[in-house]
This record gives sequence, C-alpha cells and structure tokens, in this order.
Amino acid sequence: MAVKVVVGTQWGDEGKGKLTDVMAANCDYVVRYQGGHNAGHTVVVGEESFALSLIPSGILSERATCVIGNGVVVEPGVLIAEMESLESRGVDTSRVLVSGSAHLIMPYHLELDKVTERYLGKNALGTTKRGIGPAYADKAARIGLRVQDLLDEKIFRQKLEVVLREKNLILSKVYNRLPMSLDEICNLYLGEYAPKIAPHIADTVQVLHKAVDAGKEILLEGAQATFLDIDHGTYPFVTSSSPTAGGASSGSGLGPRQFDSIIGIAKAYLTRVGAGPFPTELKDEVGDRLIDIGHEFGTVTGRRRRAGWFDAVLVRHAARLNSLTEVAITKLDVLDSFEKIKVCVGYRDGDEILDSVPYHQSVFHRVEPIYEEFDGWGCDISGARNFDDLPKEAKNYISFLREVLDVPIRVVGVGPEREQFVTLEDR
Ligand code: GDP
Ligand code: IMO
Ligand code: MG
Repeated sequence: MAVKVVVGTQWGDEGKGKLTDVMAANCDYVVRYQGGHNAGHTVVVGEESFALSLIPSGILSERATCVIGNGVVVEPGVLIAEMESLESRGVDTSRVLVSGSAHLIMPYHLELDKVTERYLGKNALGTTKRGIGPAYADKAARIGLRVQDLLDEKIFRQKLEVVLREKNLILSKVYNRLPMSLDEICNLYLGEYAPKIAPHIADTVQVLHKAVDAGKEILLEGAQATFLDIDHGTYPFVTSSSPTAGGASSGSGLGPRQFDSIIGIAKAYLTRVGAGPFPTELKDEVGDRLIDIGHEFGTVTGRRRRAGWFDAVLVRHAARLNSLTEVAITKLDVLDSFEKIKVCVGYRDGDEILDSVPYHQSVFHRVEPIYEEFDGWGCDISGARNFDDLPKEAKNYISFLREVLDVPIRVVGVGPEREQFVTLEDR
C-alpha cells in the first residue's frame, strides 16, 4: 500500500498529466485535490492525445477509480462534457467519483472572472477566465454552493436565491452587465446537470480512508503548481487554491502522515502562462525556440507560454515547501538542439546575492538570475530509457540538478509518449 502525491514545482504544465497516467497503471485510486478546469493535463497514448481538465489523468488506466476531491471547484457542464467526450472515445467514466463537498462553479463566477480581469486592465492577472478565483472566494466567504446541493432542489434554490441577489447587484451596478435569472440557472443545474452528476457523487473522504485501510494504491494528482499556490506562489499572480502538498491533504481528506512519497515534477527548463515575475524568462530567439520545440501553448486557453531557463532556486524552495521525496524532470528532449544550457543558481539584487526566493514581490520582480552554463548534447535522446543511454552532457545536466536540488531524481522525461522516460537509481 502506498499513497503518493504528484505536485508541480514551477508555474504549471510540467507534465503532471503524463506522469500521473504512467503511474496510474499501478494505482487503484487517482485523486484530484484542488483547482478546476483551469488545469490542462495532456496524456498521449500512441497516436491519440487526451486533454484532461477536471477528470484525473488516471482515467485511461482501467484499474483506477478517479476521484474529484473536496478541494476541487467543479463546473458541472464541463465535467459532463469531459465524461461524454471520453465515453465517445471508448473510455469508461462510470469510475469517476465527485466529492459532495466540492464547490460548484456557477455562471456568475465565470462572468465575474471575465469582467474583473477586464476591469484590472494592464494589471490583469491573465487568469484562465474559468471562474476559479470567484468560486474559491465564495467558498472562503461561506456563500458557495456545493456538489451535494445538486441533490436537494429546495436547498439549492434557497441558497442560490440569496447569493444571486448580491451577484446580480454587482454584475449590473458595478460592471454594467445583465443580471442572471434564478430560474434559468436552476433549470440548467438541477434539470440538466444534477441527473447526470448524481450517480457520481460520493463521500470521497470515506472512500479514500477505506481504500487506505484496504491497502490500496492511491495517487494524488496536483493541478497548477507550487508557485501558483495562493500562499506560497508569486501573489497576486497565483491561482486561488493550494497546489502544494499541504493542499493534497486538505483537498482529499487524507492526513499528512498517510503520504508515503511526494513527487515534484519539474520541466528541464521553465514556462509560465499569464502575468507575474519570471527572473529567467528569455524574450529572445532562444526563448522562441524553447516555445516552438516544446510546443509551449496552453492546453486550456491556447495561449503562448512564456519560457526561460531552469530556475534551481525556485525548485529547491518547492522541495522544502512540499517535503519532496523525489523529483521527476520532464521534457529534457526539448533541449536536444541547444548548444548551451543555463541553470539559475542564485539571484542578484543590486550588490546583494540571494540564494533563496525573496518573500518580497518587488524584490523578486527586479532580481537578475545568476547562471551556471552547461554544454548541450546536440543529439536526439528520445529513445533513451536508462541513465546510461543518455549522452554525457545530458548526464552532467541531470547530475547537476540532482546536486543543486538535493532531492533524488528518479525519472527523466524524453518525449510525450507513455514509454518515453528514463528511470534512474539515486547515485
Ligand atoms: P501538466 O499541466 O503538468 O499536466 O502539463 P501539460 O500537459 O499542460 O503540458 C505538458 C506537455 O508536455 C504535454 O503536451 C505533454 O504531452 C508534454 N510532455 C510531457 N512530458 C514530456 C517529455 O518528457 N517530453 C516532451 N517532449 N513532451 C512531454
Ligand atoms: P496545469 O494544471 C499553468 C495560471 C493562469 C494565471 C493564474 C491564475 O495545467 O499546470 P486562474 O484561472 O487559476 O485563476 O489563473 O494561474 N494557471 C495555470 N498556468 N498551468 C495551469 O494548470 C494553470 N492553471 C492556472 O494562467 O496566470
Ligand atoms: Mg497543463
């Protein structure tokens, strides 16, 4: 029996979906513990590519029951569409369970996400406009509707009536938008969504604890990443949940002592979507090459990602914040054609040298990266499966990351497909 957690160590899109899919072959439960359909997790199986947003990336493993935990925010229309799309491709979705305590994303959350971003103008965060922030804000304000409310028409309507009164005032008086209709939302959520979601609603905390007791294999799949965490990320340029390992506990209901391993996923370089500081960002042709070769366009919004060199200071901090037991480096193959590869090992702030992530955002915005430079390997590594299959320069690069992160590296991704990774013993 083991409970494992997969967590992003950078700004998202590290390849959590691929690793989760690979590990899910040996798992009984795969659990999403936070976020919502702002996540885009791509799984490539042979010629086919699956872009998952709410359903855990374990869905392609026939063994795994897929759990959407209490910490997730659920847009039921999106969940239904995702299940229907998977069914049409021959994937059985009867194994999807949704926590009755997860919060619902409502139509006004989507609208408010859009209008508040527009209102912020050049200070916009660059959210995915999926209603994530407004839904978590209502959760914290204790006016959110939950998945379980779909099961009780009277309570749903009662709660919605109270909330909608305030939301409609904000929408119409502050943002000059049309008010929303109580009946229309009730018809959609209770009439259309509830019958389709109801068979999947479960007490997932009980389910998971029973699974632990029965010695089952459980994998918790994070969405977003450490530096998008509401507490530990580059606030305010963050998401509104806790992708860090602590969130895996609160968002699933499993206790922290039940986690056996916590695997941090780190891309061999670095990307970010949306606004916010990014010391190693490359706004030149080297950055363009990372984006082109790495296909760095958002799965959810199609936005071009920002790209730069690996920032070891960030990932080392992520190792501490998450109690990482190991790291998986992904997309090393994207660096195949680069003559020189750099890793940020510290920051310069004027005359001062920093070896950790500054807590003060103004400092983090202005720091300059201090780099170590490595020779590239100049050949195709996509066929490598063992550490010794890698050219010496690639081994050097990985060994350096191992040393500077001070966490064992067990997996290195060398391509998007399931079998394209190198496994290694810690040396
Ligand atoms: P996630 O959000 O962390 O699940 O990551 P995304 O799916 O948004 O982005 C990662 C992208 O890289 C996807 O298109 C994956 O198919 C792809 N990918 C994952 N691992 C590797 C790898 O080792 N090499 C290459 N070339 N692509 C990879
Ligand atoms: P996965 O799980 C990368 C970013 C958005 C924006 C900020 C806030 O695929 O790694 P939100 O809509 O959450 O309020 O947006 O967070 N963001 C992501 N960036 N990968 C993701 O998910 C992201 N989910 C949100 O671009 O900057
Ligand atoms: Mg993604």
